[in-house]
Amino acid sequence: MTYGPSEGAAGLRTEELPGLSLRNVTKQFVSGDTVVTALNDVNLDLRKGECAALLGPSGAGKSTLLMIAGCLMAPTAGSVIIDGNVLYDSTAGERALHDDREFRRKHIGFVFQKAHLIPFLTAVENVQVAMEINDVRPSEARERAQVLLDDLGVGDRAGNLPRQLSGGQQQRVAVARALANEPSLLLADEPTAALDAQRARQVMELFQHIAHKRGASVIVVTHDHRALEHFDRILMQQDGRLSERSEPSEVAT
Ligand SMILES: Nc1ncnc2c1ncn2[C@@H]1O[C@H](COP(=O)(O)OP(=O)(O)O)[C@@H](O)[C@H]1O
Ligand SMILES: [Mg+2]
Repeated sequence: MTYGPSEGAAGLRTEELPGLSLRNVTKQFVSGDTVVTALNDVNLDLRKGECAALLGPSGAGKSTLLMIAGCLMAPTAGSVIIDGNVLYDSTAGERALHDDREFRRKHIGFVFQKAHLIPFLTAVENVQVAMEINDVRPSEARERAQVLLDDLGVGDRAGNLPRQLSGGQQQRVAVARALANEPSLLLADEPTAALDAQRARQVMELFQHIAHKRGASVIVVTHDHRALEHFDRILMQQDGRLSERSEPSEVAT
C-alpha cells in the first residue's frame, strides 16, 4: 500500500496529511539466541504543528522509536510515512523508498541529550554548516543561521566557540542547527537531561513554539514531568507498546 502525495492515508488531502505516521511498526534486535522486541506494533499519527512528549522507563524503546521515525534505522515490519512520503513499507516488501540520507537532511531535524557541536566552529558556523551540506550558498547560509540564533535567543553568542557557551546556550545552538533546513519533523531525545530546571523549561518552550509557529511535527523524549504543560500530546512507551494519555494531568508525577 502506498500513499501518494495527493491522496493521503485515509483519503485526506495533502495539507491534511499527518506530518508523521507509524503503521504497525515493529523493531526487533537479534543477538545470538536473544530477541529483544523494542517496538511492538506501534501506531502513531502526528499532525503538522503538534508537539508530543514521549515518556517511559529506560529500555522501553523510546530512542528506537525516534530513530525509526527519523529514518536512522529501518523497522523490522511496518510503515513510516513522513509528510505523505512512504519511507519504509515492509508490507510491500520495499525498504528505503527514498534516499534516506538526502530525505533526512531535508526533512528531519534531530536534537540529542548533548549538543554535539563541532568544537572548532563558532555557534553561527555550526548552524551554517548544516545548510551548506544542502547546497545553500555560504553568504545566505550565514544570514539564515544568524536569524535562527537570534530567534533562539543566542544571537549575541554567534561568534563564540561551543566551549565559551553554557550548556543551555549550546543546546539552543543545537536546536538552531536542527532547524537549519526547516524540517517538517523535529525529533529530540532527552534534550534537557543535562540542563537545570529553568533552562530545561526554556528549551521545552522552544519546541512548542517550533511546532505551533512553524507547523513542524515535534516529538520530545523526556523524563521531566515538570515541563509537560508545553505539549499537546503525551505519549507513553512501555515494554515496546505505545499508548497515549488524553490529559497531561493523568500522568503520575
Ligand atoms: N542497537 C541495538 N542492538 C540491540 N539491542 C538494542 C539496540 N538498541 C536498543 N536495543 C534494545 O532495545 C530496547 C529499547 O532500547 P531503547 O530504544 O534505547 O530504549 P529507551 O530509549 O526507552 O531507553 C532495550 O532493551 C535495548 O537494550
Ligand atoms: Mg533512550
